[in-house]
This record gives sequence, structure tokens and C-alpha cells, in this order.
Amino acid sequence: MIDTYQSLIANWSYPTSIRFGPGRISELANACRGAGIHAPLLVTDPGLAGLAIVKDALNALEENGLSTVLFSHLQANPVAANVEEGVAIYKRGHHDGVIAFGGGSALDTAKAIAFMSGQSRPIWDFEDREDWWTRADPAGVAPIIAVPTTAGTGSEVGRAAVITDETDHTKKVIFHPKMLPVEVIADPALTTGLPAPITAATGMDALSHALEAYCSPFWHPMGQGIALEAMRLVKEWLHEATSNGENVDARAYMMAASSMGAVAFQKGLGAMHAMSHPCSSLKGTHHGLTNAVVMPYVLHHNLKAIDEKLAAAARYLSLGDNAASFIDWVLRLREELQIPGTLHDLGITPDLISQMAPMALEDPCTGGNPVSMTTGAYETLYDKAINGTLG
Ligand SMILES: [Fe+2]
Repeated sequence: MIDTYQSLIANWSYPTSIRFGPGRISELANACRGAGIHAPLLVTDPGLAGLAIVKDALNALEENGLSTVLFSHLQANPVAANVEEGVAIYKRGHHDGVIAFGGGSALDTAKAIAFMSGQSRPIWDFEDREDWWTRADPAGVAPIIAVPTTAGTGSEVGRAAVITDETDHTKKVIFHPKMLPVEVIADPALTTGLPAPITAATGMDALSHALEAYCSPFWHPMGQGIALEAMRLVKEWLHEATSNGENVDARAYMMAASSMGAVAFQKGLGAMHAMSHPCSSLKGTHHGLTNAVVMPYVLHHNLKAIDEKLAAAARYLSLGDNAASFIDWVLRLREELQIPGTLHDLGITPDLISQMAPMALEDPCTGGNPVSMTTGAYETLYDKAINGTLG
């Protein structure tokens, strides 16, 4: 075990300032003031809204003279209506910033609310295509403080929000550089209460970010290095974080891996995410869980292009010296974490393939896949992932 440091408390400013360490949620009011926020809208998901971690944060903000309103009316796969409702409350309450508090759904909704609070065009005009983000008024983006409570999405270090368009059931990426939170409070103690299945599924999302970024063909050596170390942290700590949720060190390493995965995927994602998005938007499957299910099928499909890379990763992770040992580890990890082996187990049926394959091809993540994809290739991959046919 080489993960021994003097302390697990640090201040990071790559790519945004991160106050990292157990107990640092106590600095939330200070972080708000530093960002010029005096009347925040705290956005979280309905499951968290009633829990002590949110109530304690609200009390602490109040005690520090920050009048805060809670907004938690959002779906697991957030839709534009959730964002619109939040923006209306933000404007009505004359708020001056947003606290994004929770897992991926809450963080993305909060970031979209902060972004849309000062725009005059509809949200889909800012989809991450070409230079559409330049349509936005940068002065109209409210400052965001992000507080992740899961270790997987990494949205706290990202400049985008994934919102579902209910008119065509597609997940759309809304992007603007100013959507990057001004500051992050990454307090692993906030994640100790996460149930094992959510810990496993979100942890596998972090792995899929690092792995897809690592395999993507684009030039981004910083992303490459960060991805590799993030995968090692997942290998060392995800099992422990899942089976012993109270282990704050394991939670800390997974929280770091999560932020690192999201930093790394500036380098690109790939077919895992492209296949996962249609499953979630059509059948409501959990994002990280779906990525975990499709992961080995996509690795097999891409194998010719990533054989050397996976072998190098296998060596770095002390798994062996070839790509097969890496894929064997993914399969073993999935089993240990009690993650299902097929999309069929998640309720995805073969009749959906003809609808999902073109959606996957259109998905922006397809561009980062190391092997160029077609509708036919996605049909084959979906078929294999539903039936459990590897190779
Ligand atoms: Fe993801």
C-alpha cells in the first residue's frame, strides 16, 4: 500500500479551488463569503433534503448570517422543468449565488440554475455544440460553491451540466466555462452514510471517467496521467469504501478519484457513456451502474486500438502485464461489488436496441471512443451487453 501521506487535508486549485478533507464542510459559510455570496440558494436532491448533513449545513449558514433557501424539487435524471423551477425561485428570492449540494443530479441541476439565472434564451440554445456557449451572457452566470456528497460524478470540477430533454428523451450537455464552481468543498465525511450499492455504482462512474479518458485518442498528457492515478485509487479503495462505508480514508481516496476522473475526461469519454445515456433517458437506469455494466463489452470492442494502453495500465495498477489482466480485473471488481453483468438485468430489452443505437451514435461522447463507431456497431454492442456475450 503506497497511499500513506502525512495528512489527508489539503488545498487544491486544479482546475478550481478545492478545500479537501474530513470536516471541511464547516467552512461552507466562509467559502460563500469568499465568492461574494450572501443569500445562497442551496440546491440538493429530495433524498438528501431531509437528512442531517443538509439540515446541519443550513443551520450553520443561518448562524453565520447567510439567509439560505433550500430547493430540492429535482429528478434523478434532471429535466429542464427542474431547472426552470429553480431559476424562478432563485429570482423570486433575490439570491446571489448557488450552493450545489449532493450527487450528480443535484450538482448538475444547481449548476444549470446558476447558469440560467441570468440568460434570456432557452436552455437548449446552450447545448455543447460548436461554439453555442458563446451565445450566453457571462455576466448572467451566478457563482457556485459545490459540495459533492457522492464520489463518482466529479461534476464539482466540471464546466457542464447534463439535463434530459423530455421532448426527445435525450440527455443534453449544457456547457459554459463559467459553470465551473468558484470553489469546492470536498468533505469525504459527508459520504460515509452512502449505502453500499450507491457507493459501488458511483465509484464505477468515477472509474469509467478515468478509463474512457485514458483510452480516448486525444492529446492531453495531463488528463492521461490523472486518469491513470485515478484508476489506481479506485483499484485500491473502492472495494473498501463499499464494504466499510465508515472508513473515512477510503472515502477520501474515492472522493479524490472522482474529482480526478472528471478532470481527466476533458480528454474525452467514449462508447461506455454514449451507450449508457440512452438507457438512463429511456428507462431511468442509474448512470454509474449502467456504465459499470457496459464497461467490459466496450473494452472488448475497442481492444485492437487500446491493447497497449490497457497493458500499461495493468502494469501500473499491478494487475499483470497485458490488456486481458485489466479486463479480468474489471469483471472481478464488478462481481465483488455485486453489480449486474448484463443490461437485461437493468430492464433493458432487445426491442429498445433500434431506438438506442442511433441515440448512442449521436451522443457527444461517441467522438472520444478510440474506435470509430456506427449504428451497426452500437446495435451489436447493445445486443452483447443485453445477452452477456463478451468478446
Ligand atoms: Fe459519467
